[in-house]
Amino acid sequence: MSTTQFDAKDFRRALSQFPTGVTVITALDAEGNPVGVTASSFNSVSMDPTLVLWSIDKGAHSLSTFENTEHFAVNVLNRDQVSTSNNFASRGEDKFANAAYSAGLGGAPILDDYAAQFECKTWAVYEGGDHLILVGEVLDYRYNDSAEPLVFARGSYAISAQHPEMAKSSAACDAKAVEGDFVGDYLLYLLRETYQRFSADLYPKLKSECDVTAEEWRILARMVTCPVIKLSDLSTMVMQPDVALRETADWMVDKGLVMYQGDDALKITEKGSKVGLEMQSIALAEESALLSQLPPEQAEQLKVNLKCLMEKLG
Ligand SMILES: Cc1cc2nc3c(=O)[nH]c(=O)nc-3n(C[C@H](O)[C@H](O)[C@H](O)COP(=O)(O)O)c2cc1C
Repeated sequence: MSTTQFDAKDFRRALSQFPTGVTVITALDAEGNPVGVTASSFNSVSMDPTLVLWSIDKGAHSLSTFENTEHFAVNVLNRDQVSTSNNFASRGEDKFANAAYSAGLGGAPILDDYAAQFECKTWAVYEGGDHLILVGEVLDYRYNDSAEPLVFARGSYAISAQHPEMAKSSAACDAKAVEGDFVGDYLLYLLRETYQRFSADLYPKLKSECDVTAEEWRILARMVTCPVIKLSDLSTMVMQPDVALRETADWMVDKGLVMYQGDDALKITEKGSKVGLEMQSIALAEESALLSQLPPEQAEQLKVNLKCLMEKLG
């Protein structure tokens, strides 16, 4: 037994600073029914033999299946599989009702859609406090090179992006105004650079002036115009799975920004509205400062054009 007394909520927040991928781990239960859970604890262990691991909460319904199964499959999710992640993170009876899958080694379900898949034979099961650590020997695997993996960081779903430092080095070359330079003139590069430079200034400013994190700001920004929102709707709006969203909400309740309305909705408080409006005005001032560097009609046209492109892209 550990004697260290951490605040559990704060400790989880510290751990959430470590980004992971998202997997759905599957097996067949003793009756031959498919079982699956969303897990971000997956990691590689050894090349020879080829071992991977993940850990399962001892409170999970599917604990005994994974503790006793001879085979399991790790389905690494791609960026378009947020709803799959949420589905397998629920305690629903029939998580496979709307899933397209086939039987892999030992019958473990392998999803039709994936970024990568590892079919494993259980190699060892270790005690890990309130979790069991499951190590699998990879017997087969496949991956989809064109799929971008789904990322989970700070309780939110995300996608990976090129590091801005890398963009800066190409920007240094661009400064030499190389004639016909492809990257420096490409729309995706220009959009990403503008976004990264703008947000790198904005989020630290919001944190230092209003003591609100980026995750809390995403929620407050919605609630300023819509003072009561169901958690299930917010979850989709801000890309946080239910459990993580409730943790963010708990932090915001502690700060007096929101309150629970029943068990399934949040209501913004007077303080929350005040802070939300303050943040909006900081964000708008930053936007104006940036756009004021363009002639007014071009600044206006920029937003019109971007909205138009977004609509066309669907
Ligand atoms: C992004 C994400 C990552 C998760 N990672 C794990 C994990 O590594 N281990 C675990 O036991 N539960 C994890 N969970 C929670 C389980 O998916 C959730 O408790 C699920 O209800 C378990 O299913 P079961 O109770 O039917 O076994 C995660 C949930 C999410 C949304």
